[in-house]
Amino acid sequence: MTAAITGIGAALPERTVPNSHFDAIGSSDEWIVKRTGIRERRFLAEDGRLADLAVTAARTALRRAGRDAADLNHVVVATTTPDRTTPGLAVEVAARLGTPRAAAFDLHAACAGFVYALDQGTALIESGRAEAVLVCGAEALTRITDAADRSTAVLLGDGAGAVVLTDIPDAPVAPAFHLASDGEHIGLLFADRHDRKLRMDGPEIFVHAVEKMSDATRRVLERSGLACDDVDLFVAHQANARIVRAVGKEIGVPPERLFLNVDRVANTSSASIPIALAHALEEGRIGPSGVLGVAAFGAGLTWGAGVLGW
Ligand code: ACO
Repeated sequence: MTAAITGIGAALPERTVPNSHFDAIGSSDEWIVKRTGIRERRFLAEDGRLADLAVTAARTALRRAGRDAADLNHVVVATTTPDRTTPGLAVEVAARLGTPRAAAFDLHAACAGFVYALDQGTALIESGRAEAVLVCGAEALTRITDAADRSTAVLLGDGAGAVVLTDIPDAPVAPAFHLASDGEHIGLLFADRHDRKLRMDGPEIFVHAVEKMSDATRRVLERSGLACDDVDLFVAHQANARIVRAVGKEIGVPPERLFLNVDRVANTSSASIPIALAHALEEGRIGPSGVLGVAAFGAGLTWGAGVLGW
């Protein structure tokens, strides 16, 4: 069995928030664009439901895959900001899609969550335990953002994206993943139970992000016997344009194969890669078939990279 992506979808909240919104907390459009590449982001309304975005993204992915929700064996949602503490977001998404037989669970691996979930979905298909898996990344980071802290508030946005994975016997590549974590660095990026707001050492996170995503990507390419040139599109976690470009430079991905949409959506944590994939598809950067490289990094630290076909 060879898992590949057969459908991609995304959904963003309606409210667009430009950089000028943060003038009031001592930031500026110039600072944000120069340091991060971000120009605007979307915010979910205070009473908005993340499940609505996840379901919309999932329906689009299923339609583009030419699949019915009833075909799904598993629904996996990567999220750190679900609507409820319990049950997980995936259970509601599965029910609203109409999946009578799907197992559904949430996966929490911070900004690396989507790559972890993609690895799980791929493994389910390769082992023959699933025929079709929906892998979603959905985040309302505004729920854990300190709106008065300019060092984090300007970086984050809300949204959801989803992909459908199925067995494609003639897929252009056999999937490979490398996942890792290092809890020694919890203090660099966390939201604790009492304060519930993200606290971050930005410059330290920057250095780890570039180092870890580059290392994981190199390992995956080596394991797959692929050269960087064999990857048609490389989509890294959209934390910051400088981080993504630095990873591209480290591993030798030319700019035309490196996808960036952080200018429009900011950092949407585990939703960032599937949203970027949907935008890449809509911009014609994803043709009928190709090799995709992904890499992500987040709190924990957690990180990972993968290659798979579409
Ligand atoms: N507007 C204006 N000034 C600011 C802002 C802001 N939004 N934020 C910080 N500054 C100031 C600082 O106070 C500092 O001022 P000082 O020199 O007077 O002390 C100055 O700008 C430089 O601050 P640095 O933190 O050194 O700036 P840096 O160039 O490192 O950029 C940034 C900061 C953008 C946060 C960068 O470090 C980064 O992108 N790090 C990675 C962030 C990330 O990706 N985090 C993970 C995502 S969060 C999650 O997982 C959900």
